[in-house]
Amino acid sequence: MSISNPKKIILASKNEHKIAEIKSIIRDEKISLLTLNEFQEGITIEETGKDFLENAIIKARAVYEKFNLPTISDDSGLVVPALNGEPGVYSARYAHASASDWENNLKLINKMKKLSLKETEAHFETAMVFYAPQKSLVLKANGIIKGKVLTTPRGENGFGYDPIFIPQNHHLTFAQMSEREKNEISHRRAAINDLMKKLNFSLLVSQN
Ligand code: IMP
Repeated sequence: MSISNPKKIILASKNEHKIAEIKSIIRDEKISLLTLNEFQEGITIEETGKDFLENAIIKARAVYEKFNLPTISDDSGLVVPALNGEPGVYSARYAHASASDWENNLKLINKMKKLSLKETEAHFETAMVFYAPQKSLVLKANGIIKGKVLTTPRGENGFGYDPIFIPQNHHLTFAQMSEREKNEISHRRAAINDLMKKLNFSLLVSQN
């Protein structure tokens, strides 16, 4: 039986990779998942948070206030403890404001080389938020994948720091894995799973 009036939720993203990954997990006929690509009006959001969660909340609140619909937002990045947590919230703009993935990778590699590190512990992290203040609902979720970063990039797939990141208990970099292999273990997947659990739980509670 199809649902005639699914609940509209905005996914605060224009990134097709991310949208596809999240849509493949949130498959629920009661939900119609819209994205920022479906709205003609653009929105510019300054990501000024000091951590991933703050940035995810800033994004969700801005999108909700503009379009007045429950919103899912996320913010992710790579954390390298040996570099005091860099690039962290600056992952997308580590080398400079409009840096390419390669420029960001190179900056990280050079910093590791200065410390004579061939590889070092690192993790990807995603903070994800479901923001529906009209229902008094703000859910916060988190996902992490631990691993290490290398100074020698490997592989062609993926994006960002994928060519220099090897997840724990694996031998291939994210960029050497298929999209499917990566998505099954990614930080984003872990955050989506965490959010879905919390969303179902809070719906259950609100029905009682
Ligand atoms: P976003 O918040 O998901 O847009 O991620 C911000 C930045 O973190 C990206 O531009 C990438 O540099 C980095 N990043 C986030 N997730 C990944 C990933 O799965 N692989 C590689 N880099 C990532």
